[in-house]
Amino acid sequence: MKTPEIGLIGLGTMGAALAMNIAESGFPIAVWNRTTQVTRDFHASAGDLAERVTPTESLADLVAAIKPPRAIILMVPAGPAVDDQLAALSGLLGPDDLVIDAGNANFHDTNRRNAAGLPFRFMGIGVSGGEEGARHGPAVMAGGTAKDWARMAPILQAIAARAEDGTPCADHMGPAGAGHFVKAVHNGIEYADMQMIAEVYGVMRDGLGMGAKAIGATFQLWDKGILRSYLVEISGKVALADDAASGGPLLDVILDAAGQKGTGRWTVIEAQNLAAPIPVIEAAVMARNVSARLAERAAGEALFGTAPARVEGLSPDDLEQALIAGKILCYAQGFAMMTAAGADFGWALDMPAIARVWRAGCIIRSAMLNDMAQALAEDAGRNLMLAPFFAGLLRQSVPALRRVVAAGALHGLACPALSSGLAWFDMMRTARGTANMIQGQRDFFGLHGFKRLDGLDLPHGPWAKV
Ligand code: 6PG
Repeated sequence: MKTPEIGLIGLGTMGAALAMNIAESGFPIAVWNRTTQVTRDFHASAGDLAERVTPTESLADLVAAIKPPRAIILMVPAGPAVDDQLAALSGLLGPDDLVIDAGNANFHDTNRRNAAGLPFRFMGIGVSGGEEGARHGPAVMAGGTAKDWARMAPILQAIAARAEDGTPCADHMGPAGAGHFVKAVHNGIEYADMQMIAEVYGVMRDGLGMGAKAIGATFQLWDKGILRSYLVEISGKVALADDAASGGPLLDVILDAAGQKGTGRWTVIEAQNLAAPIPVIEAAVMARNVSARLAERAAGEALFGTAPARVEGLSPDDLEQALIAGKILCYAQGFAMMTAAGADFGWALDMPAIARVWRAGCIIRSAMLNDMAQALAEDAGRNLMLAPFFAGLLRQSVPALRRVVAAGALHGLACPALSSGLAWFDMMRTARGTANMIQGQRDFFGLHGFKRLDGLDLPHGPWAKV
């Protein structure tokens, strides 16, 4: 057996799947887990791939098992566990060895670790696709030096998912925390895609009176059209699933309180720091937070009543169009945020490359990302809603988005992400907005000054004199 050139620490669900993927892609790998039994069980269950896996029972053994210069992937929970592991490796690795944090780290932590003068090389990579992706082909968003990326690219591209044109969905996003930053935005968009799907599900269920099976069939239909995506596909499967315990649809017995690990929140916080408007993602994070307040929501319903009955004059086709519009608006915001971040952080984030990496393997993979990659390649700095292809789609789909948001408002069916998208769209299509009033108010109470449309140098209102 060839000596491993790569190692992996942390054989939880994702780590184990990634280690198997690496072995299956032809790279001998040494593995170590804090609990030795986990390592032994992993090796025992590796089947034909076991001969490419070197199980080790201490960190020193792991390091000794790998041919220098070593590359070691960390798959431990984000946060202090990563710092602990880096500290433990410090005495064991040399300056040419490379540690790759492949967990869902906060990119600020990755920046900090990068600047901390570790005695070895360090990369932070975002890996998306859940367990299935990790095992058979994730999307990989790598952060680190170009040299370290070049060193790792053969392995990372070999294990990654492939887009329909055969391109591996693994690329270098930029230095330091750039990979984890792009992964955070991916997750923010993931939250938004999921929320918008949940909103149209809600309108179908409560407004159109459709049952879970009919809703599932509708998602299946949409998955054959422009909305073709992993999340629409699995939403159909979730809606169609039966529940053995109740004998009815599973969806109907799942508690409506969404969990979250915080990556969507990081995106929203960072967007605020960058003054980058991402209202669809903000609404999605807000909606998860509200969903968790079960007791307050029940008290609210007792006091104010539930949503009024049926919505008339709205069809599932309207909902499909609304989802198309909402998706375009959400991604336009996400890419604009990354453009702002690139400028602010001094990272040359390549928007078409990001769209290309997201085409397969990751949770937000979708057919539309092909068109987004193309539109961004035409002009990476232009807002996606202004690209001719997407402007055409918006002209066609926004009227339905208006109908859905209006019906939601009239009938008390909450559609926070879709309506935030529409409000942003309406602001973005209004050359003469309403902030003249804000400027007047600011000047009134604080003499903050304003610019005039006629260009005259009269920066204050008459109140300035008194
Ligand atoms: C992915 C996902 C993944 C994330 C889960 C759960 O790209 O594979 O983004 O990294 O951890 O989706 O996220 P929440 O618990 O925050 O919903």
